[in-house]
Amino acid sequence: MTKVLIDCDPGIDDAMALALAAGAPGLEIVAITTVGGNVDLSLTTANALALREFLGLGDVPVTAGSSGALLRRTVRAAAVHGESGLGGVVLPAPSLTVADGHAADRIIDTLRAAPGEITLVAIGPLTNIALAVLREPRVVEWARDLVIMGGSFTRGNHNPAAEFNILADPEAAQIVFGAGWTVKMLGLDVTLTATVTSGVLERMRPLGRLAELLVPAAQFYGEVTADGGPAIHDACAVAYVMDPSLVTQTPAVVNVETIGEFTRGMTVVDFRLRDRQPNALVATGLDVTRFWELVLGTYRELADRLG
Ligand code: BDR
Ligand code: CA
Repeated sequence: MTKVLIDCDPGIDDAMALALAAGAPGLEIVAITTVGGNVDLSLTTANALALREFLGLGDVPVTAGSSGALLRRTVRAAAVHGESGLGGVVLPAPSLTVADGHAADRIIDTLRAAPGEITLVAIGPLTNIALAVLREPRVVEWARDLVIMGGSFTRGNHNPAAEFNILADPEAAQIVFGAGWTVKMLGLDVTLTATVTSGVLERMRPLGRLAELLVPAAQFYGEVTADGGPAIHDACAVAYVMDPSLVTQTPAVVNVETIGEFTRGMTVVDFRLRDRQPNALVATGLDVTRFWELVLGTYRELADRLG
């Protein structure tokens, strides 16, 4: 069983990633932490609370964290995820509330209690992870792994140079890449291939209550056609934890541009190691067919449990 702490900003694809983790027989979600990102922290936290119950996650703690970037002005993506963050999907009101404390402390305390056991999966801006590293640098040793959805070595999405999660807090991202661990980076280079085509959508429709989340959320997220559709970026990070063989990885030295007038938030990925130690394993390929088999099969199992 792989224990995961998921730091997220739900977010349509965050919701799909949480659903994947909830259904994964080999994963145990030990905590969920939220960060302001796609929408404000109050909404990402409300969405995480609703998703926890909708997905049958029991009393896994949901802890709120940073509302905005460490240093810079806040960037949001409500145009992509809707004003609520879930593309207009309304989930039943949750009965359980948010846990006390700050997400960064939750991350520190959870890792300290089980050194070497817990994989951090960060699928929003990296503000909470950076704060955890700044407050307690030993989280780097305590984490079993750090897997992020963020960055790219070929292009941006929020602008030509930068991917949203990195652009939303470049200083935090640079702290995380410089912390001393080997970041498993799943960037746009691979996540943009994980698209909900009409064939995929048809396989989501019979998934009972789960389909009531997945189908309208995916349709809101982008136009679904036979050949393409919205990319469910964040689910790639969870799928990687479930089965690393889905992804081809290349070691690299990654730095984050924090100053550039046109390139702020860009991940500068140098595959030329020369004599340097890599600080990242960068995803350079995704087996999309096997990805969807894993994701849809796991959704099926979850749907059977949820009814
Ligand atoms: C990332 O940005 C967010 O909008 C998504 O939830 C995902 O984490 C993709 O660039
Ligand atoms: Ca996200």
